[in-house]
Formats: sequence, C-alpha cells, structure tokens
Amino acid sequence: MQKTSKIAVVGATGRVGRHVVRVVEEHGYQVVPISRSTGVDVITGDGLVEALDGVEVIIDVSSTPSPQEEAATEFFTTTAANLHQAGHKTGVRRMVVVSIIGIDDSTAGYNAAKLAHEKAALAGPIPTRIVRAAQFHEFVEQLVGWGTQGDVAYVPSMRTQLVAARTVAEKLVEVATEADPAPADTRYPEIAGPRAENLADAARLLAARNGSPARIEEVSDPANPDRDLFESGALLPSPHATLAGPSYAEWLAEPTR
Ligand SMILES: NC(=O)c1ccc[n+]([C@@H]2O[C@H](COP(=O)([O-])OP(=O)(O)OC[C@H]3O[C@@H](n4cnc5c(N)ncnc54)[C@H](OP(=O)(O)O)[C@@H]3O)[C@@H](O)[C@H]2O)c1
Repeated sequence: MQKTSKIAVVGATGRVGRHVVRVVEEHGYQVVPISRSTGVDVITGDGLVEALDGVEVIIDVSSTPSPQEEAATEFFTTTAANLHQAGHKTGVRRMVVVSIIGIDDSTAGYNAAKLAHEKAALAGPIPTRIVRAAQFHEFVEQLVGWGTQGDVAYVPSMRTQLVAARTVAEKLVEVATEADPAPADTRYPEIAGPRAENLADAARLLAARNGSPARIEEVSDPANPDRDLFESGALLPSPHATLAGPSYAEWLAEPTR
C-alpha cells in the first residue's frame, strides 16, 4: 500500500481504536478516525459515505457497551452491513475486523454476537479479513468495575492470554496493509499475549496497584452462557497465533499505558 493511502478506523476513540489510530499514523498512512464523537454514526449511517471518501482500507474496531447478545448482535450486524454498503459505494478495497479468540462454540451472550459479526462482515461485498484477539489488558479494569460490590469484586473464572490493546492494534495494521494471504490459508490470524493467566490473578494485580477493591473473588457463574468456554481454556490462542508482550504485569508497571 502506498503511504498516501487513507485508512479509516471505525471506533477510533475506543480501548483498541485509539491505539490503531496511532499505529496507522506511525506507519505514515493517512488516518480517518470514525466514531460518534467525530461526527459519524455507523448505525444510523450519518456522515459515513462522506467520511469514507477516498478511503482504501477500513479497520473496524467499534463496539457497543451492551454485553447482551441481542443488542450486541444488532449492533455488529448493522455496523457490518452499513460499512459494506457505504464502503462499496466509495471504492474501499479491504476491510479488517477484530473479533475474539476461541468463540467458535459460543451459543449465547456477547461472544455469540461476535460470531454473528464475523459472518456479517465476511458476507461482502468488500473483501474482509477477521483478526481474532485475546482479552485486552485494558478489559480487566472493566470486568472488575462490573463485578464490584462494596469492597469485593467478583470476577468470572477464566483462562485467558491477556494482550495489550496496543499489541492488537499493531497486528490489525499489519493485516490491513499486507499483501493478500495465500488462498489456501483460511485460518483467522490471532493475536494474544505472551502467557496464559487466570483472570482473577490479573484482577488481583490491578487491585493491589490501585489500592482497591480490597478483595477479588473468582466466581463460576452457572448463569453465564460462556462459563464452560471461559474455564476450559477454549479462549486461549491456537498454535498459529502471534504471541507478543508486554505481559499483564509488565503492562501494569508501564508509566504511560
Ligand atoms: N475488550 C476486549 O478485551 C476485546 C477482546 C477481543 C476483541 N475485542 C473486540 O474489539 C472491538 C473493540 O472493543 P473495545 O473494547 O476497544 O471497544 P470500546 O472501548 O467500547 O470502543 C468502542 C468504539 O466504538 C465507537 N462507537 C460506538 N458506537 C458507535 C456508532 N454508532 N458509530 C460510530 N462509532 C461508534 C465508540 O466511539 P463513540 O462512543 O464516540 O461513538 C468507540 O470509539 C470490539 O469489536 C470487541 O468485540 C475486544
């Protein structure tokens, strides 16, 4: 890709999106940041065709705050359809979409919504590549926040190979700008951190650093449709995954994360 090419980052202000914007700029490409706060809404379509004018590649890292399957499915499938429609009109040549490692057997919840997202994104017409990522380092704080009651945070029992959002951003930009893969390789590229961890251990590191909550309790919630996947290690990366640091502990110690 030429350095004058424009890359649109959808979800440019999010946990991973803000890093994607930075990495695209560091590589010398022009970046078109897209989010409601930049005046473009991918659900209503307001401002989308105008924003995609001259864009060669879309990197979609948008998300909904709702972890509910129905709302999340509606968000992701609408986003995919609108990006394909608007991008096809303006001549976008490739789309790269971030998803989650190990969700193939999900039948409910947010991860099932991501499966629907993958299917809608691959439906075209724009040639699309899915990159699956492990849970972000930045996600631990959100999970702790959701589970906090008084002095205790209840976090789900989960084996995960936590990865920095910055590391995910680097992989997404690599895939967005590289030559097409060999047609025989149908595997999704995966990006994960350097080692498998228990989510609760990571949460304890975070709590120790922040000084709260006082206690982290690991819970196995039968109401969680993804409980078996969380606990069995299904969310850990495949052998072909790219593994890259920093580890969660190294990342927490960084002064400018
Ligand atoms: N979090 C994880 O651990 C993890 C792991 C693997 C994969 N992923 C995937 O990574 C993606 C990004 O996750 P994240 O945690 O970085 O998301 P996030 O922090 O919640 O950011 C969401 C982004 O989407 C934008 N957005 C929301 N609604 C929009 C709309 N209608 N139109 C335009 N922009 C909109 C938001 O900006 P505005 O609010 O300004 O519109 C924001 O920039 C998701 O697809 C998620 O499934 C996440």
